[in-house]
Amino acid sequence: MKLKSQLLQPCFLLALRFLALVLWSVPGARALDNGLAMTPTMGWLHWERFMCNVDCQEEPDSCISEKLFMQMAELMDSDGWKDAGYKYLCIDDCWMAPKRDSKGRLQADPKRFPNGIQSLANYVHSKGLKLGIYADVGNKTCAGFPGSFGHYDIDAKTFADWGVDLLKFDGCYCDSVEHLENGYKRMSLALNRTGRSIVYSCEWPLYMWPFHEPNYTEIRQYCNHWRNFQDVYDSWQSIKSILAWTSSNQKRIVHVAGPGGWNDPDMLVIGNFGLSWDQQVTQMALWAIMAAPLLMSNDLRHISPQAKALLQNKDVIAINQDPLGKQGYRLRKEDNIEVWERPLTDLAWAVAMVNLQEIGGPRFHTISLASLGQGMACVPDCTITQLLPVKSQLGFYEWTSDLKIKINPTGTVLLRLAAN
Ligand SMILES: *[C@@H]1O[C@H](CO)[C@@H](O)[C@H](O)[C@H]1NC(C)=O
Ligand SMILES: *[C@@H]1O[C@H](CO)[C@@H](O)[C@H](O)[C@H]1NC(C)=O
Ligand SMILES: *[C@@H]1O[C@H](CO)[C@@H](O)[C@H](O)[C@H]1NC(C)=O
Repeated sequence: MKLKSQLLQPCFLLALRFLALVLWSVPGARALDNGLAMTPTMGWLHWERFMCNVDCQEEPDSCISEKLFMQMAELMDSDGWKDAGYKYLCIDDCWMAPKRDSKGRLQADPKRFPNGIQSLANYVHSKGLKLGIYADVGNKTCAGFPGSFGHYDIDAKTFADWGVDLLKFDGCYCDSVEHLENGYKRMSLALNRTGRSIVYSCEWPLYMWPFHEPNYTEIRQYCNHWRNFQDVYDSWQSIKSILAWTSSNQKRIVHVAGPGGWNDPDMLVIGNFGLSWDQQVTQMALWAIMAAPLLMSNDLRHISPQAKALLQNKDVIAINQDPLGKQGYRLRKEDNIEVWERPLTDLAWAVAMVNLQEIGGPRFHTISLASLGQGMACVPDCTITQLLPVKSQLGFYEWTSDLKIKINPTGTVLLRLAAN
């Protein structure tokens, strides 16, 4: 009791908060110096939903073609996506013709992209959006189209000439760890030499892990974001495995993230088929906690109002895009409930509680506020807002208070704690 009253001395608390400010402000490792991705990239990427559908005869509305991207661009502009922050419209694998042109340049499939990528880029830019493209560090892309090995400079220049704004660089068909590392670095330098600002999205650590632990300090110097783990699927199993990988590797990866460079847990699959409503809430909340790039892979022509509202939720996007740029982490797991937290600007904190129990109904969980934010999330008191699954003001709490929360199975409650 005596200790507690001493701890609550205002000077001591203010000193603690100052210390917190200093600690959270220490910059991470040096980032790729291209001025981009100061907050996690937001946009749309075709892979999870549309994959490598090249059959425009049978499926004209869902094959990988300029028509698909023009329709998405139009909707990103007209349906509030761009205003919510989703600016990068990104092409994944399977856009290419099977062979390079006579000058050795990559070219788009002439049937599916009859006007070429440059004209698509112009269209996308006319909507106030940015265009992303895809290539591969090895001899072939994952789907077997021409790889960039031996062509890094010409490919970087081709993309810059077309007006491309982001490159997702995959790691298939690469025969050695040296080729992998050198390839990712050389493409980064080649992009820089074009003089065009191009976000560089890597899969370097994902392909590195089978050989040895990636050097994240080094990867951050070359890439704006990097994939660590398997491709996301439209399933709860997939979301769970990504969260489990992230929490079990958090000591390695969390401190590396910051303005200019982010860990990429892969696309948002909200608005598709495989996740229940609560599971979609969990993905949105945890991608915000993880400071993840928010790249949706869904069909903006056919999306429920509920999924759209979740993806466009301003409060949750504000947590994802928090300018402090500190990635959150799992604080603890007990009784199948995980508590994650993320420090925000102005000494605020985001806290997510996930109920991983897949039997039964909603469960109550009680947390002591003094256990959050290294004891400083609610010092000497704070205002708590629940952001997900629905917004509600929970009100004023003291440092010594407990908070009792009800969480649906496979769902998440996302809170924002603001210091008073
Ligand atoms: C290239 O790198 C230099 C130094 O690292 C940086 O100052 C410059 O802005 C970069 N240019 C582009 C286009 O990324
Ligand atoms: C690409 O193929 C060539 C010829 O087989 C080989 O020498 C080279 O190492 C390969 N590169 C990669 C990155 O796999
Ligand atoms: C990782 O890369 C950094 C930057 O290149 C380097 O200073 C450091 O020594 C590397 N760490 C290891 C363990 O190789």
